Amino acid sequence: MLPPGATIGILGGGQLGRMTTIAAAELGFRSHVFCQDNQEPAAQVAAATTIAPFDDPAALDAFGRAVDVVTLEFENLPLSALRHLAKQHTVRPGPKALEVAQDRQLEKEFVRDLGLPVAPFATVTSANELDAALKHTGARAIMKTARFGYDGKGQVRLAENADTAAAWRQLQTDRATVETLLDLDREFSVILARAADGRVAHFDPAENEHRDSILHRSTVPALVPQPLIDQAVDATHRVAAALDLVGLLAVEFFVTTSGELFVNEMAPRPHNSGHWTLDACAVSQFEQLVRAVAGLPLGDPSRHSDAEMLNLLGDDVEQRDNHLRQPQVCLHLYGKAAARPGRKMGHATTLRPRTNAAG
Ligand SMILES: Nc1ncnc2c1ncn2[C@@H]1O[C@H](COP(=O)(O)OP(=O)(O)OP(=O)(O)O)[C@@H](O)[C@H]1O
Ligand SMILES: [Mg+2]
Repeated sequence: MLPPGATIGILGGGQLGRMTTIAAAELGFRSHVFCQDNQEPAAQVAAATTIAPFDDPAALDAFGRAVDVVTLEFENLPLSALRHLAKQHTVRPGPKALEVAQDRQLEKEFVRDLGLPVAPFATVTSANELDAALKHTGARAIMKTARFGYDGKGQVRLAENADTAAAWRQLQTDRATVETLLDLDREFSVILARAADGRVAHFDPAENEHRDSILHRSTVPALVPQPLIDQAVDATHRVAAALDLVGLLAVEFFVTTSGELFVNEMAPRPHNSGHWTLDACAVSQFEQLVRAVAGLPLGDPSRHSDAEMLNLLGDDVEQRDNHLRQPQVCLHLYGKAAARPGRKMGHATTLRPRTNAAG
C-alpha cells in the first residue's frame, strides 16, 4: 500500500489522466505525468511532468525513478516503453494488457480464444485478402486499422459490391481487421477495477449512444435485458483475470436487433463511458484506478443516482453557462484551449434519483 504523499506516474496527458490526477490528489497522492506538452489536460493539474517522446529511454528511466507506481491513460503508447519501465518498476496495468488492447487483431483473437462472442472477423494485409475476408464476414462489413484507431478514426464501412481496392487504399495501413457489420439494437459497456490480490469491483453497465462514431451519451441504468448484462459482466471479469490486469478494464458490448451479445473492444484504462461514476457513485472509476494501482482497498462501486453523461465536443463547450444553471447537472471541463470540431472538451452529467434497470 502506497503511503500518503507517494507519487503515481501516469503515461499520457489527456483528460483521462487529468481526472485520475485529481482523484489521486484527493487520496493524498502526487501525480507525475509523462506527456508531450505541458499544456495537455493532465499536465495542467499534475505535481510534476516529464515532457518527452514515449520512446526516450533516458526520460523513461528518470520518470520511473521519480514515481512509486506507473499507470497509463491511453493505449497508443509504444509497447516498448511499457516493457522498458516494467523491467525496473511496478507498472499497472502491465505490458500484456496493453499489447492485447492496442492491436485489434490480438484483441479479437484473445476474446475469441476465451470463448466469448465476437462478430465474425478476419485479418487482412492487402486488397486481395480483403476480397477473401468478405466471403467470411459477409459483404456488409467494417474494416478497422489494427492499430492506432480511436473515435471511429481508421475505419471504413463496406456495402454490397463495394470497391474493395479503393477501401483498402483509403485506410492507409498495412494490417486491418474486417468484421461483419452488425444490426445494432444497443451498445453498452462494463467497467471494472481489479486489485493486485485479484479482487474485482464492477460499476453498473452504461448504455452508450454514438454519433459519427464518437461517444455522444452514456446512460445508467442501461436498458438491456438482465441476462445479457450478467453475461457481459461475467465476460469482463474473465478478460480481466485472463490478462491478470491490475487497474481498470472497460469492455464495450453490442446487442444486435436479434438480441445477441457481442464483445466489441476493450480498454485497460479509464473509459469515457464511465465518467458518470464521478458524480453518481461514492467512488469513481478514477479513484478505483488510483486505489488499485496504489494497493489500497477497492471502493464500493454501487451508484446512488441514475445518470446521463453527455460529451461536450468542440463548440458544445460554449453551452457551459447553460449547463451550470441546471440543477442536478455536474460539469467537468478538461482545460483544452482550442475547441476543434469533434474534440472532447468536457462532459456534463445529469443526476436523477436512482431507479432499477428496466431491461
Ligand atoms: N461490427 C460492427 N457492427 C456495427 N457497428 C459497429 C461495428 N464496429 C463498430 N461499430 C460502430 O462504430 C463505433 C466505433 O467502433 P469501435 O469501438 O470499434 O472504434 P474506436 O475507433 O475504437 O472507437 P472508440 O475509441 O470511440 O471506442 C462502435 O461503437 C459502433 O457504433
Ligand atoms: Mg469503441
